[in-house]
This record gives sequence, C-alpha cells and structure tokens, in this order.
Amino acid sequence: MLERNLPRCFPLRGKHSIGLADHANGQRIESWLKAATVSPLRFSDQQTDAMARLLPLLLCGEQSAQLVFNSEIARLAGSEHKLILNCLHGVEADEYRHDIALQQVATQLTELTSFNLVQRKAKRFYASLGRVENYSEHFVRISILDTCVTHIMQSFEQCHLGREHPFALLCGLIKKDEAKHVYVSRKHAMALGASANQFAEQHEQVVGNLMQLLLTQGGAFESMGVCLDGVTRKLEAKWR
Ligand SMILES: [Fe+2]
Ligand SMILES: [Fe+2]
Repeated sequence: MLERNLPRCFPLRGKHSIGLADHANGQRIESWLKAATVSPLRFSDQQTDAMARLLPLLLCGEQSAQLVFNSEIARLAGSEHKLILNCLHGVEADEYRHDIALQQVATQLTELTSFNLVQRKAKRFYASLGRVENYSEHFVRISILDTCVTHIMQSFEQCHLGREHPFALLCGLIKKDEAKHVYVSRKHAMALGASANQFAEQHEQVVGNLMQLLLTQGGAFESMGVCLDGVTRKLEAKWR
C-alpha cells in the first residue's frame, strides 16, 4: 500500500476553495469518499497495473485545474464579477473533491514506478495548456479539455470493472461535474472575449495533444475497456 500523500503534479495553493459540497453531486462524491475510506476498492493484479498508469493522467488533470481556477479567482478578486467568481470557486472546490477521491483510489495501488513516469508526461501536457496568448484562450482550452474529460469519465463508468464497481461509480459522478465545468469555462472564455471560431481552432490542437498523451498508455486504457478511438470519434462528431 502506498503512503497517503502521493507526489502532486501541481502544488495545492494555500488559499483554495474547499468546504462541504453545496450541490447534490458534490455531496454524492463526499459520501463515496466516506465509503471508500472504510471499504477498500478491489482491483485484479492486471487492473492494478493499468490503474497505476491511468490515475496519474486523471489526477494531474484535477490538480492542474485547481491551479488554473485558483489563479483566475485571485486575478478577479475584488472585481465586480461576483457571479462568475462564485462559479469559479464552485469549480475549484469540485476539482479538489475529485483530486481527493482519485487519491483515495490511488492508495490502493501497490507500486509507484509507472505512476511517477506517467505523471511526468502528464505534467508536461497540462503545463503546455497554460502557454497561451491571453486569458480567454486559456479558458477556451479548459472548456475543450473538460469536454474530453467528460467523455473519458463516461467510458470509465462503462468499463470492464462493471457499473457497480466503486471506481466506475466515482467516474460517473466526476463526469457530471465536468459537464458543468464545460459550461462554466465556455461562458467565462466568452465573457473574456473568445469567439466561437476560437473554440473550433483550439479544438484540434487540444484534443490532438491530449490523445497523444493518452495513447502513451493505450494498453492500460484497453485493458480497462476504455476505447480511446471511440472517445476521439465522439469528440470529432461534436465539433464537425
Ligand atoms: Fe475534475
Ligand atoms: Fe473540470
């Protein structure tokens, strides 16, 4: 069993949005977490190996998102954008909850070698997302990324583990939050001046780079029953 504190992809800011969930889905994740703390999740040896490669990809995304939303909250603090600030706080708190829940899953893993290796690759991808010309472009990318995450989580929800497996249940809950984040990020990007064209322009690059990262662990996705080709097809159909 690993130590509870796994190496983080991105640091947790001192002042971040936490607190008890104020929406039903967040409360379900909190209940999931309570249950997972008392009864450990079961994975076969093969699944454990696959999860050690896949969890860093998911965790790094949650940790990077917290940093993005935390920075944006700090940038807009004290401005008149009260409504959007509330939404951004809500997203940051959701991402924190996802992070803690996925870390709980990761404590079931028995080795760290592939975890660290994949984490380095994931960190490079998520850091590259932040290299943008302006804030609106960043949130265009975040919105596209969260669309991808929504589809990936849906695939995990329906993967070989079976729908009743606690990890599949968690992915179903995260999926619901991510679908909401797509909307928040999209709206925020547009409020910052993004055009509809920008979404189409960025889509190819973000999805292409993400898929390139995910395909480095293609075997692990396949062994869990997550079809990356299927995810790509759904994403392409969305923007055609
Ligand atoms: Fe998330
Ligand atoms: Fe998100």
